Amino acid sequence: MDPVFDLIESERQRQREGLELIPSENYVTKEVLEAMGSVLTNKYSEGYPSFSWNFSSEEKPQRKEPSSDVKSDTCSDFVSKEKWIAETILPNHRYYGGQVNVDRIERLAIARACELFNADHANVQPHSGANANEAVYFAWCEPGDKILAMNLAHGGHLTHGSPVTRSAKIYDFVAYGVNDEGDIDYDQMEKVALAEGPKLILVGYSAFMKIPDFKRAVEIRDKVEQKFKHEVLLMADMAHVAGLIAGGVHPNPLDFGFNVMTTTTHKTLRGPRGGLILSKGRVGSQLKRPEHTLENIPTLIDRAVFPGTQGGPLEHVIAAKAVAFGEALKPEFKEYAKNIVENAKTLADELKKNGFILQGDGTDNHLVLVNVDASFGLNGKDYEKALDLVGLTLNANALPGDKQAAFRPSGVRLGTPAMTTRGLGKAEMVKVADWMTEVAKICQVANERNADDKKAIQFNADEEKQLAKIREAVRELALKFPLPSDK
Ligand SMILES: Cc1ncc(COP(=O)(O)O)c(C=O)c1O
Repeated sequence: MDPVFDLIESERQRQREGLELIPSENYVTKEVLEAMGSVLTNKYSEGYPSFSWNFSSEEKPQRKEPSSDVKSDTCSDFVSKEKWIAETILPNHRYYGGQVNVDRIERLAIARACELFNADHANVQPHSGANANEAVYFAWCEPGDKILAMNLAHGGHLTHGSPVTRSAKIYDFVAYGVNDEGDIDYDQMEKVALAEGPKLILVGYSAFMKIPDFKRAVEIRDKVEQKFKHEVLLMADMAHVAGLIAGGVHPNPLDFGFNVMTTTTHKTLRGPRGGLILSKGRVGSQLKRPEHTLENIPTLIDRAVFPGTQGGPLEHVIAAKAVAFGEALKPEFKEYAKNIVENAKTLADELKKNGFILQGDGTDNHLVLVNVDASFGLNGKDYEKALDLVGLTLNANALPGDKQAAFRPSGVRLGTPAMTTRGLGKAEMVKVADWMTEVAKICQVANERNADDKKAIQFNADEEKQLAKIREAVRELALKFPLPSDK
C-alpha cells in the first residue's frame, strides 16, 4: 500500500488518542468527510452558478428563533427553497460544460450560508480564509489605499497587514490594538481612523477572547465617511467565532451594519478547510452604475474571487461546506455552540484557580490566552512541546506587547471547539486544567535546573515517568470520546 495511507491512519490514531486544544481546529462529521472525498474533485467549474433565488430582504425567508418546542424549528420555508434549488436547473455562468450537479450543490451552499448568517450574498469559493480576506481587499481597494485593522501582535491575523504578506505590499495597513484589559481599544481605533481616512476598516482576530463592540465600530465607520466623503467598507473577519455566531451565542456583525464578513469554514463552524465571504448589498451579475459602490459589493467580491484572485473552485470542498452549513442550521448546533463557550469558561476558571494568569482574565468566547511566562516562568514553545508529549495539543502564542521572540513567546492559546465536538464537558475541563498544571510544574522544575541552558527543556528520568503517566490518563479519557467520523 502507498505509505501515504499508513500516515493518514497514524494521524487518525493520533487524533483519537489525544485531545485537541488548538482553538482553530475541529473534528468534522463522516458526512463532511464523505463530500470532501467525492468525485466532485474531478470537475472543473470556473465561474458561478446562476442565482437560484433572489436573496433580497423581501424574499429571503427570515431565520426563526428557536422555540421551546425544538422540533418545530425546522425553517420550513428554507427546506422548500432547498428542494427547489436541488431540483431546478438554471442557465449557468461557467466556462465548462457538465455543470448540472455542481451548480445545484454550489447554490445550496450559498443559500445555506446566507440563511446561517443573515447575509444577502455568499461566495463559497475561497480556498482558505487568507484567500477570502485578500479577495475582499482586492474587490474594494486600489493599490496604496489605507486599511485599518487589528495589530498582529495584539491578536490580529497575518492577513490583516503583516509585512510578510502580499496584501501589505499592495495596500497601506494602519493598526489599532487592545487595551490593558485585553479589550479592543476603540478610542485608538477611532483616533487612527479619523487621522488616516481608511477605505476599509476591519474587525477581526485570531487571539482575542472578548465580544467586539460592533455598534461602536459602525459609529467609527460613519464618522470616517462623514469626514473624508468616501464610502468605507466595514469588514469583520470572524474566522474564529463564525460557529458561535451560527449557533446564536455570539452577535453577528452583519446585523449591526457591517458590509462584509469573512470566515474560515473549518474552525468553530466545523466544516472542511476553506473560506467564505458573506455580504450585504445588491445581488446579481450586473453592476448598477456607478459600479464601485458598497451597494454592488456582493458582485465586486464575486469578481475579485474569480477571476480576480483564484482559478477553478474546489467543488468537493464546496459540497462539504454545504453539508457543514446544513449541520449548523440544525437545532443541535445551537447546543454545541453554547457548550463550547461554557467549556471555555470552565477551563479558564480552573486554570486561574490553579495559578495560571490569563490575558483578559478569562474568556467570553471559545478561546483562552495564557501567560505561561508570568504564571510559571515558561516560554510558550517549551510548554507547547511538553504538552505534546502528554497528548494535549495547543499552540504557543505571543501576547500583546510580548517582549519574547516570536518563536519563544510568553503565551499559549487554547480553546474548546474540538473537545466539545467530541462530547467533553465540565468535568473533563477540570481534568484538562489539572493535567496542564501538572505539566507546567514539571516544566518549571526542569527549567530551573537547566536555568543557564538556552536550549529546550531537558527532562530527567523521573520527570519523563511523570509525563508518561499523564499521557496514559489523557489517552484513556480521549478514547472514551470517539471522533465523530468514527461513530
Ligand atoms: C482571523 C483569521 N483570518 C484568516 C485566517 C486564515 O485562514 P486560512 O488558514 O484558512 O487561510 C485565520 C486562520 O487562522 C484567522 O484566524
